[in-house]
Amino acid sequence: MAIRNLRIEGDAILRKKSKEINNIDERLLILLDDMLETMYANDGIGLAAVQVGVLKRAVVIDLGEGPMKLLNPVIVMQEGEQIFTEGCLSVPGKNGEVLRPLKVKVSYKDIDGNEQILEAENLMAVCLCHEIDHLNGVLFIDNIIEDDISE
Ligand code: NI
Repeated sequence: MAIRNLRIEGDAILRKKSKEINNIDERLLILLDDMLETMYANDGIGLAAVQVGVLKRAVVIDLGEGPMKLLNPVIVMQEGEQIFTEGCLSVPGKNGEVLRPLKVKVSYKDIDGNEQILEAENLMAVCLCHEIDHLNGVLFIDNIIEDDISE
């Protein structure tokens, strides 16, 4: 495994739409492991492949309950609202409040190629929405409803 360079706001790649993954190969599995290592090294809880410069629809998340690897994640249901103060490894030093659904249902493919459904709420729902936004070239700063003064 290796720590990869994080792409930072201002880098045009962060605004691009990532591509669907159709082929789960060794290269992809290494990418996912490297994404996790990069996320842990930077004290993050979620990371999208585009943040290490790869335009593939891959996301890793670890909220302290073990690593998750999601391919082609899509929100298929959302419910309720919550406001959460978010940050992002690609937008260092900035936090801000974003309105998100309280609960989401996400479909994705696991690393064995099986279709999965994940139901999540609270922080996990925020994290899933934030990472899926990355796959569509969206950053949390696009949706801030109130800036944190600690910037
Ligand atoms: Ni982010």
